[in-house]
Amino acid sequence: MRVVVVVTALLVVIAGAWWWASVPRTPKELYEARCSACHALADLSRRRPEEMVAIIDTMRHRNGAASVIGETEAQEIIGYLKSLKDP
Ligand code: HEC
Repeated sequence: MRVVVVVTALLVVIAGAWWWASVPRTPKELYEARCSACHALADLSRRRPEEMVAIIDTMRHRNGAASVIGETEAQEIIGYLKSLKDP
């Protein structure tokens, strides 16, 4: 009986650690995790910073990314992508 409890507790700890390790923590990680859910990360190097909002809006409202990217996350990703463009 006690073995079952110990094994269950261990599994919970392992699952928790796995989940904790997989949570995106920086805007970069968030972008990489969310924007690669449906396709390989797009090449945004030729896009202007002003286009970022439209691209993310299109993904969320036309391509269905709203189910994987929340409003706050979208803002964070937009901020990150724009910051890449700063000289
Ligand atoms: C729910 C699925 C989904 C997610 C999540 C997603 N996309 Fe897309 N994306 C698509 C689809 C569908 C297309 C259009 C078909 C294609 O080009 O593969 C596309 C195409 C694109 C294109 C090329 C289209 C163009 O306008 O030139 C870019 C750039 C792009 N995505 C960027 C992003 C970025 C940045 C994110 C993260 C914010 C993202 N995508 C997240 C589904 C998604």
